Amino acid sequence: MTDSPFDPTDGAKNCALVVEGEFAQSLQRETLGVRAGQRRTAEDEHSEALFLTSSYVFKDCADAASRFSGGSSGSVYSRYTNPTVRNFELRLAALEGADDCIATSSGMAATMSICLAHLKAGDHIVCSRDVFGSTVVLLDNFFVKFGVKVTYVGLTDLAGWAAAVTPETRLFFLETPSNPLNEIANIGALAELTRKHSIMLAVDNCLCTPALQQPLALGADMVVHSATKYLDGQGRCLGGAVVGRAEFVDPIRSLVRAGGPSMSPFNAWVFLKGLETLSLRMNAHSASALHIARWLGEQAWVEKVFYAGLENHPGHAIAKQQQSAFGGVLSFRVRGDKATAWRFIDATRLMSLTANLGDAKSTIVHPATTTHGRLSDAAKVSAGITDNLVRLSIGLEARSDLITDLERGAAAL
Ligand SMILES: Cc1ncc(COP(=O)(O)O)c(C=O)c1O
Repeated sequence: MTDSPFDPTDGAKNCALVVEGEFAQSLQRETLGVRAGQRRTAEDEHSEALFLTSSYVFKDCADAASRFSGGSSGSVYSRYTNPTVRNFELRLAALEGADDCIATSSGMAATMSICLAHLKAGDHIVCSRDVFGSTVVLLDNFFVKFGVKVTYVGLTDLAGWAAAVTPETRLFFLETPSNPLNEIANIGALAELTRKHSIMLAVDNCLCTPALQQPLALGADMVVHSATKYLDGQGRCLGGAVVGRAEFVDPIRSLVRAGGPSMSPFNAWVFLKGLETLSLRMNAHSASALHIARWLGEQAWVEKVFYAGLENHPGHAIAKQQQSAFGGVLSFRVRGDKATAWRFIDATRLMSLTANLGDAKSTIVHPATTTHGRLSDAAKVSAGITDNLVRLSIGLEARSDLITDLERGAAAL
């Protein structure tokens, strides 16, 4: 992470690249979220500059030729490099404890880019059954056309992951905690398995973010992000990223440069601002979600609560080892059927009925008919997506107001 065009030793502290290298390594995660990767320009701006430009000018033809050939540093075109996007990449890499990061136009673009850059016809992926629905569509409808095979296994079924490995297996792909049931994978145990078979391990860290969990430190090779969620934190922009060692990120960077699923500089600037408050927000989301999960567990109209922060959740012990808190997403089953769950959701007033999560605004959704609506009935049953399941993404509103809203829902049952 030392490819700055600015000289940090030029003696002008406020013009220098202030947080990189050894200095960055001495800092806590909260500080890195606010400071890492910033490159001040000659304007001495305090907040990060937004380089809203698609291309860059050259001093002369020799400079243009040299930049194009990689003989000198300096930007050429924003699909290749953009200083604001690079600032975001460096900050997220610092937070995840990674060598490098490549930003993408969405979380799905990040997943697609991993597969395009690292897989070839005949390769095999083992994927958690609980991944985001678009990942299943991407693998089953598109990558299959190019001869990439997929086996789905239960997220927590370590023996199932081991049994699914074939000589062609190149990638394990999973999300932990899973959405919406908060299942927890043992990242360290899966990393041991992938190391043994020279398989890449990619972990979607969307629900925890590096503020609560660092999969690379537990042995993962790549971390995938939908920046659209908590990295933004206020529901404004689409974006994604892949973070990891250079050997994994470099091929993806080449793919993104050539193929074009690059992050918009404007979005990168919004995500940079989001990262500044990430630790604070994740701790606040987690504290409120735990409070609400416990409250839901005491309600007679609730059949079951799914939140890894609860001691009775099967993933609680592993989550406690590999996460510093449990995040803001939880789900529960109301006593009743689909109509009951719909009545409950429709009677809430404060929580937004929307598919997104990771927002300052709490959201509520009925997974069986929205986010997981495309699954067959059998697939829903095996994924635990019952008709009476309700998912909450707990935002930053007062907990008492959120509980009053849930009571509105309960009054309609
Ligand atoms: C866990 C998870 N991963 C990936 C994605 C895809 O991200 P995006 O919508 O930014 O493409 C989502 C979207 O909801 C998600 O919830």
